[in-house]
Amino acid sequence: MKIKSLVISAATVALASTAYIGLSVAFDDDSHDWGDYQVEDRRSGYTYRSAETRALQDDEFENPGMVGVDHGAELWNIAEGSEGKACADCHGDASESMAKVGATYPKFNAASSKPINVEQRINLCRVENMGAEPFKYESGEMLNMTAFVKNQSLGEPVNVVIDGEMAPFFEKGKEFYYERRGQLDMACSHCHEDNEGNMIRADHLSQGQINGFPTYRFKWQKLGSVHRRFRGCNKNIRATPYKYGSDEYVNLELYLTWRGRGLPIETPAVRN
Ligand code: HEC
Ligand code: HEC
Repeated sequence: MKIKSLVISAATVALASTAYIGLSVAFDDDSHDWGDYQVEDRRSGYTYRSAETRALQDDEFENPGMVGVDHGAELWNIAEGSEGKACADCHGDASESMAKVGATYPKFNAASSKPINVEQRINLCRVENMGAEPFKYESGEMLNMTAFVKNQSLGEPVNVVIDGEMAPFFEKGKEFYYERRGQLDMACSHCHEDNEGNMIRADHLSQGQINGFPTYRFKWQKLGSVHRRFRGCNKNIRATPYKYGSDEYVNLELYLTWRGRGLPIETPAVRN
């Protein structure tokens, strides 16, 4: 065991903000072997949670997020829309057609000339290929279908394209990550990079990785999207959150997926 030094200077986090949000030093066991949950210095949020929470995530029968995945599997086979088609009619067995897909998003979409995430890809299929209504962004259907698709990539290392036509969007996402905002004038990096491993009130600060989304949170008592988490973290520093599915959040999602490159897809992860 060693005590991590707490790096707080006026240059990193404004002192007033630090006191306000209640940062303190934590004991962190750096020698632990986290297996696939750590790649070089990149660590999944899994490794910051309690043994009980981790055990719940690991047990596919006890993991509360699996109810959503099972519902997604049902939706996969239900025909909807003017074409009278289900996802399965075109994509067949998801364990084959969707294997690894969830680990490669956000991906460039030529029609809109920008990256889209899995939620948006699902709605493209609903609207254009099924003639059905799009799912509402944070609806149960959307979360469960997204969780089902991503769960087909369980354990698959995250791997997104960031060069070529993706490059400008990646740069925007990165800028967002390091930009101060809100009344507390803090950037994502102030908590998830500079103070990773420290305590913020009763919570152990992680790197804010996104390889487990949609994630089941005890606080939410259900699955939630990564954009819901972004909104929550924006609100915590008294910043105005962006819309679900906004370009800003998709770009941020792209940057953060790359930031966690090589970490395994954990959907549905369990967090407090
Ligand atoms: C009428 C056929 C059809 C139906 C029905 C359909 N899709 Fe698709 N889907 C496609 C085609 C074609 C593509 C490939 C588009 C491309 O390559 O750009 C695709 C692509 C995808 C992808 C991206 C795959 C990748 O490798 O990036 C996902 C995810 C997906 N569909 C999910 C769904 C889901 C979920 C449903 C049901 C809600 C669904 N699709 C219904 C035809 C369909
Ligand atoms: C004031 C500190 C603070 C700031 C600033 C902050 N967060 Fe967080 N964030 C937290 C806390 C606390 C948690 C819950 C514990 C943890 O996983 O770190 C969290 C959790 C997360 C998670 C969930 C990680 C997981 O394993 O499920 C993500 C993703 C995340 N934050 C992204 C962001 C992004 C993106 C920003 C910038 C827009 C941001 N955070 C800004 C405090 C912060």
